[in-house]
Amino acid sequence: MKNLVIWGGRPLRGEVRCDGAKNAALPVLAGALLMENATIYEVPDLADVRTMVELLRAVGADVKQDRDTIYVSSPGPLMYEAPYDLVRKMRASFLVMGPLLVRCGKASIPLPGGCAIGQRPVDLHLKGFQAMGAHISIEKGYVHASAPKLHGAQIYLDVPSVGATENIMMAACLAHGETVIDNAAQEPEVVDLANFLNSAGARIKGAGTPRIRIDGVKELRDTAYTIIPDRIEAATYLIAGAITQGNVTVDNVIPLHLKSVLAKLHECGLEVTEWNKSIEISASCRAKPVKIKTLPYPGFPTDVQAPFMSLLSLGEGTSIISETVFENRFAHAEELRRMGAKIRIEGSNAVIEGVPQLTGATVQATDLRAGAALCLAALAAQGVSYITGLEHLERGYANFASKLRDLGARIAVFDEAIEQASGFAP
Ligand code: UD1
Repeated sequence: MKNLVIWGGRPLRGEVRCDGAKNAALPVLAGALLMENATIYEVPDLADVRTMVELLRAVGADVKQDRDTIYVSSPGPLMYEAPYDLVRKMRASFLVMGPLLVRCGKASIPLPGGCAIGQRPVDLHLKGFQAMGAHISIEKGYVHASAPKLHGAQIYLDVPSVGATENIMMAACLAHGETVIDNAAQEPEVVDLANFLNSAGARIKGAGTPRIRIDGVKELRDTAYTIIPDRIEAATYLIAGAITQGNVTVDNVIPLHLKSVLAKLHECGLEVTEWNKSIEISASCRAKPVKIKTLPYPGFPTDVQAPFMSLLSLGEGTSIISETVFENRFAHAEELRRMGAKIRIEGSNAVIEGVPQLTGATVQATDLRAGAALCLAALAAQGVSYITGLEHLERGYANFASKLRDLGARIAVFDEAIEQASGFAP
């Protein structure tokens, strides 16, 4: 187990470059199973990406990597069953179901189950496959889907699920006839997947709107594609600049993808300047209080909720965050309280009374974005913080500690075993 140690209280200054988006890279890698050869550029070096690569290999693809470029080759017959260990590790593994179903005529994928941020069912994915003619059964924790040939269908999603939109879209590319997904997710990562598939000859229209139309084609051809920058990583480093009252420029971003976050940073009274591919934040005072409601894109992203809560914990007045996407995503609040934050949870609302100072403490990252939130709070807090559960952070942030160090943070990665042996552990 590795932990992070952060000596807080230093304003961050400088430039940081974002990597390719995790949430685009994962579905694009799954989608690479739909064609013989795909070259994917700007793939971030993350634990979740490594899990997806393992999964692609487990179902029979040949995957090679050269720094941030991944080559996926899957011309031969694929295995239709995904190993339990990989799906259990990462929920996004379920995204191979659509591609395997059309490639193999059947797919058996373990149910991903609950996770630290709530139930997260897959009923909408399955409803979509069923509408396209798949027979679905659930036995011994596995979802079995079979259909010699999928056909196009009219599919309405009860909620605009990102994963369900992506999974159905991938299957529909090689289905017979036209599929229409209504109330589809509009996230930039859905658009990126559609652009990737279209670059291989798919016929997808309307990605980025609530209605996506997919005209099935016989086969997809080889392609090479560059992943979009990670808007959640960008938001995290902007908040790092804001919370430490520093000045940070985040490069390799698409400002349009961050509109809701930038609007809230403005409302907090922070100076935000947008350029073509970069955003600068400059802060010299505490954030003003705001009300935030997480929503599907283009609303405020649930993945930025936890990091923003850290900023508001050090704000000037009382802020309210309503979490409407996931039902159990406030685990970071309790840990922030250990650092002196005043946060009350009332159902799906967090009431945050800003305090002038946080104090370093030992805190536990329970999930990826909760971990980011705690690190941000620790960067601004007085004294030393120990953040356990670095493995959660490594799922979604490449070179997190070194990027922050380049901005002037005092941060170190500690191996728990060495800490215990040296008596240095808190
Ligand atoms: C993706 C992102 C994740 C982000 C989330 C919401 C990836 C790899 N992960 O997750 O970082 O937090 O979008 O922006 O892209 N739901 C159902 N039935 C389903 C599927 C989802 O009820 O079959 C519900 C979920 O419980 C949740 C809501 O839909 O309340 C949104 O989930 P979804 O958009 O599917 O999230 P993911 O694709 O899992």
